Formats: sequence, C-alpha cells, structure tokens
Amino acid sequence: MKRRVVLLGPPGAGKGTQAARLATRLGVQHVSTGDLFRWHISQDTSWGKKAREYLERGLLVPDEITVAMVAEKLKEDGFVLDGFPRNLAQARALEDILASHGKELDAALLLEVPEETVVERLSGRRVCARCGRNYHLKFQPPAGERCSCGGEVYQREDDREEVVRRRLRVYREETAPLVGFYESRGKLWRVDGVGDPEEVSARIWAVLSLDPL
Ligand code: AP5
Repeated sequence: MKRRVVLLGPPGAGKGTQAARLATRLGVQHVSTGDLFRWHISQDTSWGKKAREYLERGLLVPDEITVAMVAEKLKEDGFVLDGFPRNLAQARALEDILASHGKELDAALLLEVPEETVVERLSGRRVCARCGRNYHLKFQPPAGERCSCGGEVYQREDDREEVVRRRLRVYREETAPLVGFYESRGKLWRVDGVGDPEEVSARIWAVLSLDPL
C-alpha cells in the first residue's frame, strides 16, 4: 500500500481537505506545512517569528526553515504531505530526508482545479480558530455560526484577493515545475479536483487502488 504521499496543486485546490481524509484512510500522519507555520506563529516561536511576514504576503518561507520543520516530522514513517514540497530545492531535500531513512516517496498526486474555481473556494473559506477545520460558506458551511467543536470560524489573512493572486503567481513560477520533476520519476498521478469533496476523494482512492467507501 502507498503510505508516503505528496499532494500537489494550487492554493485552494483542496489539498488540506483531501490530505486529512487520505491520512485517516491510510492511518498515517497529515503533515501540512501551512498549518505548522500557522501554529508556530500563534505560539510566537522562533520559527513563527521568521515565517509570519512571508505568510502574510503570500510568499514562500525560506527553504532552510521549512525543510528543518518537515525533517522533524518525517522521523515518523508514513505521511500525507500537504503544501510541501513547493519548489525544486524542497523536492530534492525531501528525497534526501527519505533516503537518509532508507525510504522513498510512493506517489505525488496533482489536484487539478481551474484558477476561477480556486479563487471562489478561497474567498469563501473559513477556518476554525480552535481545531483548524476548514469550511466554505457555500460548499461546506458550518452548521451554526461556529465550528462543530465550538470554536469561532474566521477568514485567513492570506485569503484576501490581492494575496491570493500573489500566491497563485508563486505557485505557477515555483511549484508548477514539480509536476515535471515527479513525472520524470514515474511518481505523478493527476486527479481532477473539481466536484464535491466526496467525488474527489473517490478519484484519489481509485488512483491509489484503495477500495471505494
Ligand atoms: P498553505 O496553508 O499550504 O496554503 P495553500 O497551499 O495556498 O493551500 P490552501 O490551504 O490555501 O488550500 P488547499 O489546497 O489546502 O485547499 P483547502 O482544502 O483548504 O500555505 C500557506 C502559506 O504558508 C504559503 O503561502 C507560504 O507562505 C507558507 N508555506 C506553506 N508551505 C510552504 C512551503 N513548503 N515552503 C515555503 N512556504 C510555505 O480548500 C480550500 C477551500 O475550498 C476550503 O474552504 C474548502 O472547504 C473548499 N473545498 C475544498 N475542496 C472542495 C471541493 N471539492 N468543492 C468545493 N469546495 C471545496
């Protein structure tokens, strides 16, 4: 069974939504670099202090911080990586980290979603301040004003339109080349990310040869 999986795709493609489901299904950890940075920022750690400005501006946090943070997590085997790698240097660093444990990546799944859909998803996204669960005002609204855990839901700073546009540009310039990188290693699978989250999950199960639910 594939237990070391990377999810690729533009901001708002549904990586976080699908990574959480897939990690549960595979019984492995869900490692989201975006969530890790937001946690470090909320705790005002030294990594958080360094990362804050980059997240607010929609730019990539320097590789030395990001790679060190991920390497810590990958001491435990089995993962769904969400938001990492995001450039070629990070992809090579991931190979090196896994090789140092005598392992290699099983699959990189590219969630394909057109840009207009991504902008609509991000502008409607709301996140729980307590447990981090993602909602969407139109597609997955919270049952009341609050999350099911009781936490308040809020709009992420970097979901403002001008920041979303910059994140999309960074994706095109720095992250999109990873498609060729994983294709050349025979590890890339493309998944149509349009449709409701259950439909997208079903396509992922099929690609990974998991039984339908
Ligand atoms: P990060 O948090 O990783 O942001 P992102 O990659 O831009 O991804 P998003 O979280 O915006 O979207 P997603 O694809 O996870 O979609 P989601 O499931 O939430 O990174 C934030 C920042 O951290 C970066 O800008 C950078 O500064 C820094 N950073 C992170 N990793 C880094 C790295 N490796 N190197 C350097 N810097 C790094 O879905 C979006 C919305 O759509 C939600 O509202 C959801 O409910 C809804 N939705 C999901 N699926 C569907 C569906 N099928 N139909 C309808 N709605 C859906």
